[in-house]
Amino acid sequence: MFYITTAIDYPNGKPHIGHAYEKVLADVLTRYQRFKGLDAYYLNGVDQHGQKMVKTAEAEGVNVATVAKRNTKGFIKLWEKLDVKYDGWAETTDDQHKACVQAILTDLKDKGALYKKSYAGHYSVRQEQFLTDRDRNEAGEFGPEWGEVMEIEEENWYFKLSEHAEWLKATVESDDLKIIPEFRKTEVLNAAERAGETDLCISRPKDRLSWGIPLPFDPDFVTYVWFDALINYISFAGYKKPEGSTLPDFDTLWPADLQIIGKDILVPAHAIYWPCMLHAMGFEAGEMPTLLVHGFWNIRGDKMSKSLGNIVDPDELADKFGAETLRYYLCRDIRLGKDSDFDIERLVMLFNTELANDLGNLLNRSINMTKGFCNSTISSTATDDPEDIALRENLEKTTAAYRAAMDNCDLSEALQAINNHVTHCNGYLERHKPWEMKKDESKLPRVGEVLSHTAESCAHLALLLRPFLPAATEKIFGQLKKETLIDTKLDDLKWGLLEAGHQTGKPKPVFPRIQVEEKE
Ligand code: ME8
Ligand code: MG
Repeated sequence: MFYITTAIDYPNGKPHIGHAYEKVLADVLTRYQRFKGLDAYYLNGVDQHGQKMVKTAEAEGVNVATVAKRNTKGFIKLWEKLDVKYDGWAETTDDQHKACVQAILTDLKDKGALYKKSYAGHYSVRQEQFLTDRDRNEAGEFGPEWGEVMEIEEENWYFKLSEHAEWLKATVESDDLKIIPEFRKTEVLNAAERAGETDLCISRPKDRLSWGIPLPFDPDFVTYVWFDALINYISFAGYKKPEGSTLPDFDTLWPADLQIIGKDILVPAHAIYWPCMLHAMGFEAGEMPTLLVHGFWNIRGDKMSKSLGNIVDPDELADKFGAETLRYYLCRDIRLGKDSDFDIERLVMLFNTELANDLGNLLNRSINMTKGFCNSTISSTATDDPEDIALRENLEKTTAAYRAAMDNCDLSEALQAINNHVTHCNGYLERHKPWEMKKDESKLPRVGEVLSHTAESCAHLALLLRPFLPAATEKIFGQLKKETLIDTKLDDLKWGLLEAGHQTGKPKPVFPRIQVEEKE
């Protein structure tokens, strides 16, 4: 089973465009695995504990559990709207998750992997972590990125992270803990180098923070939110599940084939804490997940954040432009692992050119002219015209490039491969001009061959696009009158999906142009 997870989002507000991107990315990759014929399981969810949730609730004067529940609904509604489909849903206030976290804590304590000590130091409320001198800036201060920094002294429980530092380094070096894209590995190796210096504080005293999972062996403490949250990837995959539980069978899922996260939570949480936690629990190097680390969406180069007030609301965008327009833009306009600027004008431009004009016209012209000039009938495409051969070869190259890009999780590259064939087909139509050719009756058989080449291409292109645009591609198959093709697997994409004699349907624009309001 191909097991995909994403970060569990803090529901301390509404989901933003970064959340939407990550979940669409996971949804597309899950659908792609199924297109390859693999069984896939996508676990999505929310991270409901921790100080941030308490702060939000206090500011609203509402009970924290109520806020968590209410905001969680907002996330679920957005995933429905964006057609993000997942097989499992992780909510960290769930009783089965709590039981799993507590069982793991008990095990680790029994193994001697945890200890209690008193510590005085600086604490960042925003990041929910203790700071060291390494976190000071050049002026020797804790910069604004840490938010409010308090000096506190308290007793806490610690996880012997440092014991795993050497193992971690070797595991990253050997790619047993694989990091995609490759350029992020250096950052992880540097951090792994320092993992031997300190242990990880995994508790918070209840009198300071009670919104968390109680330590099973020391009721004065709750579990540190990151320690709790990271465990979701295994607790909801069925690790240590009780008899009769409906959770999945852990052994068929683990290790995760892709754990999709943003670059801000790679170090230390996912690349240091998480593998060391797993190792302490008894997982070996060969049982580590693969981390797919994506970049950030910025607004005009700024970091998107609530405090800047420049959040682009994915919910409003989906209402205004359509869910699949937003899906297309999020996949198309960011390079794997890199940051990108969210730009509504580019969203409109890319939709209008690549989908409305290029693919939309190709499809519309193919079906419209097949109806008008060929009685809606597909001709044989077993031709030896050099232009036809070139088109068929281009489609083969496109499919291979698409597959390579998707296997690398590079969605933008895959979409560009698709667009390359759309452009090829439009050029082919422009060169043949079937609308002129049909005036000479003796050329009608050739008109049929030409249009059948572009209609056949549309069927292939729709299948390649299906993980990205499930609803639009369903419409395409409707117009081709070939709904049965919709479950074709990538390996079965052979020329001749539309057989000679097949009757196509009526054209109707699948990607109507977005009309841009004139600026005042
Ligand atoms: O970090 N662009 O939750 P979160 C792209 N609860 N991705 C972004 C982004 C942006 N502008 N802003 C955030 C948490 N993200 C923890 C995770 S996992 C055990 C616990 C990504 O709601 C971010 O990198 O702050 C992360 O992968 C996800 O959104 C959730 O962020
Ligand atoms: Mg697996």
